Amino acid sequence: MINRPKKDFNITAGDNNFTVKNVILDSEPEQFFRPTSFQEIIGREREKELLYTMIDSVKKQWQQGKNVALDHILFYGPAGVGKTTFAYVLAKELGVNIVVTTGPAISKPADLLGILTNLERGDILFIDEIHRLRHNLEELLYPALEDYRIDIVMGTGPSAQTVRVSLKPFTLVAATTRIGLLTSPLRDRFGVSIYLDFLSQDNIVSLLKTLVSRDSQIKKIEREAMQKIAERSRGVARIAVKFYKRLRDLAIQAGSDTITADLANKGFKLLGVDKLGLDVLERKLIKTVIKEFNGGPVSLRTLAGILNEDARTIEEVYEPYLIKIGFIQKTPRGRLITPKAFRYFGF
Ligand SMILES: Nc1ncnc2c1ncn2[C@@H]1O[C@H](COP(=O)(O)OP(=O)(O)OP(=O)(O)O)[C@@H](O)[C@H]1O
Ligand SMILES: [Mg+2]
Repeated sequence: MINRPKKDFNITAGDNNFTVKNVILDSEPEQFFRPTSFQEIIGREREKELLYTMIDSVKKQWQQGKNVALDHILFYGPAGVGKTTFAYVLAKELGVNIVVTTGPAISKPADLLGILTNLERGDILFIDEIHRLRHNLEELLYPALEDYRIDIVMGTGPSAQTVRVSLKPFTLVAATTRIGLLTSPLRDRFGVSIYLDFLSQDNIVSLLKTLVSRDSQIKKIEREAMQKIAERSRGVARIAVKFYKRLRDLAIQAGSDTITADLANKGFKLLGVDKLGLDVLERKLIKTVIKEFNGGPVSLRTLAGILNEDARTIEEVYEPYLIKIGFIQKTPRGRLITPKAFRYFGF
């Protein structure tokens, strides 16, 4: 378990003052590379332009002294494609504070209250994995999102009273890999929902060029090496960065400042990654279903059993790419290995 920063929040509700202690927050993780401006985010031109427009509009209104905030924004899409990156960059471009937490980290209403009442005008509250936010908290959030207020019940029994707390206009930025798990009332409260799809291979090549340009150790990467990384990265920026780092290790170890195609070949062999970007576990998964289940159909549970992984990880991490490249098909009777996968593995 990583050590997450905790903070105490003072809350004023009507005539009452109280403190919520130890609210779990996140800090920006150390990253090998993370864009700090829209300009550094590769691709996503339409999305960036949309966000620029929103930012310009709100900044103009601030200049006129208006008490407003950017509309709430939801980022959704597969893992490692830039949702968190966009949240941080938004805060930087807007010039506001960002408070970062995750759905499961907020455990009780007081935590959420503490966070919300301490936001300044225009600040961003970033809730990652919003699909894992508890439902009672979600309901507390609705009026906060819509009218910048929360109603809290103070005391119990006959003396209980509802106190309305006003918030400063703020922006909720949320991210999820599982938009289907969001309730529609929550989804409807975002002013804009932005789907971040897998990146193209050209985008990945641009990303690699950026990485080299900022790398004090590496001066050059051969075109063919970039191509190999792009083909194996599955359209996921995080995977491309990870591969780049491993190949960089090899180059540095060899006392070289160039990532060559030969070095890339050697690196991917060491990593156990094949030419489609499949790793050892994924190959094992497919081959086992072919050999022992004649290609299926098999249930998600069977797949989970083969890899000794939980079903959610299979569904969210392994399966999407295998489906995308047409190796697995979801059928009403279960998961089926396709003829294309049979051929690829030489069966
Ligand atoms: N469009 C992009 N341009 C440049 N770098 C990117 C881009 N998208 C992602 N990255 C890089 O990939 C890494 C992973 O991105 P990020 O953490 O934002 O993904 P995510 O969508 O939040 O993933 P998860 O769902 O796992 O939280 C970042 O460190 C960033 O460096
Ligand atoms: Mg993220």
